[in-house]
Amino acid sequence: MSDFDSDVVDPVRIDNLNQENRTFAPTPEFARQAFAQPGIYDEADQDRLAFWDKQAQRLNWTSPWSEVLDWSQAPVAKWFVGGRLNVAENCLDRHLANGLGERVAIYFEGEAGDTRAITYAQLHAEVCQAANALAALGVGELDRVAIYLPMIPEAVVAMLACARIGAVHNVIFGGFSADSLSSRINDAEAKVVITADGGFRRGKELPLKIIVDEAVKLTPTVEHVLVVQRTKSDVEWFEHDLWWHEQLAAQPAEHSAQSFDSEHPLFILYTSGTTGKPKGILHTTGGYLTQAAFTHAAVFDLNPDTDVYWCTADVGWITGHSYVVYGPLANGATQLMYEGTPDTPHRGRWWELIEKYRVSIFYTAPTALRTFMKWGDELPAGFDLSSLRVLGSVGEPINPEAWMWYREVIGHNNCPIVDTWWQTETGAIMISPLPGVAATKPGSAMRALPGIGIDVVDAEGTHVPDGVGGYLVLTEPWPSMARGIWGDPERFIETYWQRYAKQGFYFAGDGATRDLDGDLWLLGRVDDVMNVSGHRISTAEVESALVSHPRVAEAAVVGAKDDVTGQGIVAFVILRGENNVDADTIGAELRNHVGQEIGPIAKPRQIMIVQELPKTRSGKIMRRLLLDIAEGRALGDVTTLADPAVVQLIASGMTTADDA
Ligand code: PRX
Repeated sequence: MSDFDSDVVDPVRIDNLNQENRTFAPTPEFARQAFAQPGIYDEADQDRLAFWDKQAQRLNWTSPWSEVLDWSQAPVAKWFVGGRLNVAENCLDRHLANGLGERVAIYFEGEAGDTRAITYAQLHAEVCQAANALAALGVGELDRVAIYLPMIPEAVVAMLACARIGAVHNVIFGGFSADSLSSRINDAEAKVVITADGGFRRGKELPLKIIVDEAVKLTPTVEHVLVVQRTKSDVEWFEHDLWWHEQLAAQPAEHSAQSFDSEHPLFILYTSGTTGKPKGILHTTGGYLTQAAFTHAAVFDLNPDTDVYWCTADVGWITGHSYVVYGPLANGATQLMYEGTPDTPHRGRWWELIEKYRVSIFYTAPTALRTFMKWGDELPAGFDLSSLRVLGSVGEPINPEAWMWYREVIGHNNCPIVDTWWQTETGAIMISPLPGVAATKPGSAMRALPGIGIDVVDAEGTHVPDGVGGYLVLTEPWPSMARGIWGDPERFIETYWQRYAKQGFYFAGDGATRDLDGDLWLLGRVDDVMNVSGHRISTAEVESALVSHPRVAEAAVVGAKDDVTGQGIVAFVILRGENNVDADTIGAELRNHVGQEIGPIAKPRQIMIVQELPKTRSGKIMRRLLLDIAEGRALGDVTTLADPAVVQLIASGMTTADDA
């Protein structure tokens, strides 16, 4: 099944937003000192490839490229053709060579309050040891290494160590279950897994090693499991297990980095598509690092000598890859890394950390902001947030109320807000205001970054006028674009490139509209991908998890609007056999089952036990109607239903089990 075989929302159904009249220009002082000045757009427009050529020169290359872009094998791009570099060398060694070895790269704060300040020199030494340790275990160029770690500095070390020796990392978010973990390890055929005994989350231990123990029973390619000692709790020990600290201690803290081709694979990161099987998005070296580093500097207005940067994303997501690891470290930034949740040990924890470390650039997700709004303004008011100067948002559309709250309560009306649109597949930020240039509007991602081509089009690929909703497309190749789906080149084409093959556009899967000033508003996914707290989850994945439970005959899942999480997962389930069950009991059982199959992040918010599902005459489930029911709206068009009475039956006969 292709990713297009889905119930794509018709652009005419995309709500058109009211024109937003409030605009917020940067102060003259901010504008004057900003990294990106207004002329940058013209410069890129005049010669896009020359623009990217210049940005690539921010990095250290050991051999120059002969051509900026080779698009002859489209849609698989080659950027900076023939150029050679080492990513870890760019993130570490060259800063040491520039006399920045004593600069703090990472201020780490554990959930329990334990801290570490790691300089670039220390990070370099540890990455060298880890690179040597991996090599000693037989990990070489192009071998895959799965990383399943909490938010601790060792995650950064592990990623950079892989990059240093040309191995390909595959980071899997710690919230995924053993099943999800093993299927990702198997798809990538990873040779080594790097994990920890556990991590601290919400005052409890997240038992990562136990999950890995279960997963690796099903992964024939895994030869070794390297275990970071974090919680020091007892773990069961197997023949393939090795302690990370012991392996590193046995290695020298020097390693001379070899350079790799600009198109050498750097990492695979799995993300949800519209089918049940996650896609291993492949990113390569030179183009990826160029765009990650450039956008990190330009969008956040980074001054590496004075700023303290904090991105709250987990390294298990693309935001953590590009804006915790590669962008900031390539730029020689000082950043904060926090292990835990925002409410432990108290709900002011994040604001307390901003005060403590004098954080100046802060990058987080709208779902977190909406949670804080609910918790009340007095929490952030209790801390000194005056160090902040730029605020960023990512992962989902930010509603104007949350945007204004961010501006007023966190930024004290002093900080430009950058709403950054991008995806796992784009590798780096594509749409965002530049903070010293744009007069921002609450809720708008404003415009494409310099060097990036976008448009809003209809189903045929024709540009739609301003003020009309349509599909967001990327019209030109960009340096950090995905180079494929691991092991499935056809799916890469089908998912992103087939729909607008004639025009050569990349189909992003998002709805968008430009307002009458030409500024962009993102309107959410137009396919069967949900966005729950900024996490991408496919309806098909949750459905297949549900039907794998013996009591479930059929399931249909929709992402219903949710005030805090953006969307919430609502499942409609037809049970097998006896139906007079206690909805709460079966609901809890099914939720846990989904948690086990995919991970806690995919547990439905609500499960509705129904007798029937609305289907078209060809047997396709009509999700739009289910969405209407889940969001409590008047029912939409039912004329194509095989049996129009079914909807009434569902609406009147369902028993619901809500998430406690
Ligand atoms: O729907 C868009 C939404 O998140 C999707 C990408 O998800 P993922 O690959 O997990 O990457 C998230 C972090 C980059 C997009 O297709 N999205 C991301 N950022 C925004 C957004 N929607 C609206 N506004 C944003 N700023």
